[in-house]
Amino acid sequence: MLQALQQYFFELFETAPLLFRSPGRINIIGEHTDYNGGFVLPAAIEQAAYIAISKRSDNQLHLHAMSLNESIILSIDSLEPIPHAWSNYIAGVADQFIKNNKLVGGFNLVLNSNIPIGSGLSSSAAIECVVAYALNELFDCKMDRLALAHLAQKAEHHFAGVQCGLMDQFASMMGAKDQLIKLDCQSLQYEFIPFNIHHYTLVLFDTNVKHSLAASAYNERREQCEQAVEWISQSVPDIQSLRQVNMPMLAEYVLPKNELIYKRCSFVVNEIQRVESACTALKNGDLIKLGKLMFETHQGLSADYEVSCKELDVLVETVKNIPDVIGARMMGGGFGGCTLNLIQTAAVEKTIHTVQHVYAKTMHTSLPTYIVETANGTSRIA
Ligand code: GLA
Repeated sequence: MLQALQQYFFELFETAPLLFRSPGRINIIGEHTDYNGGFVLPAAIEQAAYIAISKRSDNQLHLHAMSLNESIILSIDSLEPIPHAWSNYIAGVADQFIKNNKLVGGFNLVLNSNIPIGSGLSSSAAIECVVAYALNELFDCKMDRLALAHLAQKAEHHFAGVQCGLMDQFASMMGAKDQLIKLDCQSLQYEFIPFNIHHYTLVLFDTNVKHSLAASAYNERREQCEQAVEWISQSVPDIQSLRQVNMPMLAEYVLPKNELIYKRCSFVVNEIQRVESACTALKNGDLIKLGKLMFETHQGLSADYEVSCKELDVLVETVKNIPDVIGARMMGGGFGGCTLNLIQTAAVEKTIHTVQHVYAKTMHTSLPTYIVETANGTSRIA
């Protein structure tokens, strides 16, 4: 992949590039908690976005997506989001550099990625992070990884229109092989927890669907959580996010106003707690408990937060009947993408076969599967 990328770049631009990569991510537990100041437990994975890049002497961005064989030329003097364009994830980051007075010129860039798109593995965050990291180095901006993750997140807000939390960009930028990151999204303190699941393997089942309401529903969920915080803070001072909220507060200040928002927030308050329980279970090697928590998370995401979909629910229901699968849940923002499954290593192949069979019969589509391998965060590779 790298040699091909280098070669491709050279043929297009007749100059030697720098090469960078930034990984996709999984999240063990802690879904929709990041923008609520809660905990998340992600890890960077092997699949990554790669770019080859060099400076230009003018103000143009010459961008090329290798797998699509598409090119676009933009100018740093007039960067605007283009509806549904892959270039938004690059232009959005360049735009943030300009807004921070850091971008001093144009660049040539070729992108390639082996992160499945729309699978909830944060292919867009990986592109934003790899571009942010590369521009920081190319233009000698001296920003640290955390600042770059924040900048990449802002690019997603402004150029992709998703008001995401920090989890995806943080995991891509800061990931470490064989480690999970327990991130406190309120203080931004984090600790690495060794990814040690003994005789079990994490497997992703990819629904192969991404329903179109994902972005608007995501933003709506975020607004509902913020609405609840506003209501509570009218009576309880110093409440800034659902992190500081408990169930009695929800019952007293939110339930009388809006039952749906109460349901949404109950999920978040419980989910923040589940991350703590999951970390304890992991540290104690109690994977059965971890698996139970994953099933609980799915139940909450499906029934209370309502970000699941038929395909995801079918996958989780199917594995509930297989004793070798001790935990499963939908992962990421929702409305499609992957389920994450904790499976007895010896039974992985058999299980994949069974689930693929059921999925083909009920959903009439294939079920790509990926075994999770953790990886290091964003880096320069040449
Ligand atoms: C998406 C967002 C993240 C996070 C998850 C849900 O991946 O980009 O910030 O909110 O959804 O946990």
